[in-house]
Amino acid sequence: MSISDLLTETSHRTHFPGDLSAPDPLPEDSIQAAVNLMNDGRLFRYGEDRGSLPEAALLEEEFAAYLGRKFCVGVNSGGCALFIALRAAGVQPGDKVLTNAFTLAPVPGAIAHAGGVPVLVDITERTVIDLDDLTLKAAESDAKFLMLSYMRGHIPDMEKVMAVCSEFDIAVIEDCAHTMGAGWNGKLTGTFGGVACFSTQTFKHINSGEGGLLVTDDEDIAARAILLSGSYMLYAQHRARPALDVFDRHRFDMPNCSMRMSSLVAAVLRPQLRQLTQRNDEWRQIYAWLANDLVEVPHIRLPVRPLAEEFVPSSLQFMFEGIAEAQIKHFLQEADTHGVHVKWFGNEQPIGFTSRHDHWRYIDAVGHVPIADAVLKSLCDIRLPLGLSQADCATIARVLAEAMASAIMLDDKK
Ligand SMILES: Cc1ncc(COP(=O)(O)O)c(C=O)c1O
Repeated sequence: MSISDLLTETSHRTHFPGDLSAPDPLPEDSIQAAVNLMNDGRLFRYGEDRGSLPEAALLEEEFAAYLGRKFCVGVNSGGCALFIALRAAGVQPGDKVLTNAFTLAPVPGAIAHAGGVPVLVDITERTVIDLDDLTLKAAESDAKFLMLSYMRGHIPDMEKVMAVCSEFDIAVIEDCAHTMGAGWNGKLTGTFGGVACFSTQTFKHINSGEGGLLVTDDEDIAARAILLSGSYMLYAQHRARPALDVFDRHRFDMPNCSMRMSSLVAAVLRPQLRQLTQRNDEWRQIYAWLANDLVEVPHIRLPVRPLAEEFVPSSLQFMFEGIAEAQIKHFLQEADTHGVHVKWFGNEQPIGFTSRHDHWRYIDAVGHVPIADAVLKSLCDIRLPLGLSQADCATIARVLAEAMASAIMLDDKK
């Protein structure tokens, strides 16, 4: 059936009755762990005289083991993990920090918080960091840090990224907010850079409302991160930590930034971590169902996903091709009216979880990024809650196809 037949063929329009913004319920084990902890009352992660239930220390130990990294620190958000990672890795006020231009506001926010100056690196058509531009900006800026954001779960060729960074002696900090359990060529994200950061905010792969995890194999970075997170002098209660004499090198120099993870957060995360692989398999299936239907819709293009990219998609991105801005706005309105909320990065104003580098006026960012500017104008994003069935995905695709048909007819009527 042609796209214009879609609207004439049926007298009624398809409506998606679900709620794409609804979070998934927490597993029973998480609820029980939270209740146990509340009965105990000690929600603060550190005990003073008597030990608390060591939920946060156990989560750190389990997460470090999952990734195969030596050290892990729990903090109160992904953005805090990014800030602490920059500070612990040695960023000083005024230092340049390379970062890909397609990312979310907490990334430039963390760089600004650490006093760094972001140097924006362009992206490719598949929304990942552009290696030629990375090489150019690394040489031009002399930056010694790269905050690599796997925005919306898209992963660049990591062997090449690491080769460029090693050539220019650049320390890599990975922002894995959207890639918990994802990998490149058999190696998990979060194991490439000197430090890596994860978020456990509600719309991420595991949900504690707010929360962040930082991992590293470097004992000095780990000790600094634990001290920065606000461990008072109780850091011995951590389990995935370096030896105590490493803290002696740093404990008088690191400010207490009070960004600790609470025990309650850790308690609800631990059971979810045990389910991560199964959850990620479900997300892959949902993505495949929806992507298969969406490739049939004209004027919509999905970013290429290379075989080496082992992604764990909790959202799906697509770009518009060959339609005008008025039609894009009409499409979005139509989709929304019929139950499918699509986020668009092309908006003049930042809305919800979309924002572009030109919206971050507080950063004195340097870097010309023409491809990012063009790609973001047409880039859209749909959240994929777990529990979507194949029939739900078909309905969503149908709503989008009808919205596109309506947008095209808008042009025909001119
Ligand atoms: C790409 C990216 N990085 C970092 C973060 C920071 O996470 P948080 O919201 O936990 O601070 C987010 C959050 O949505 C994100 O999308």
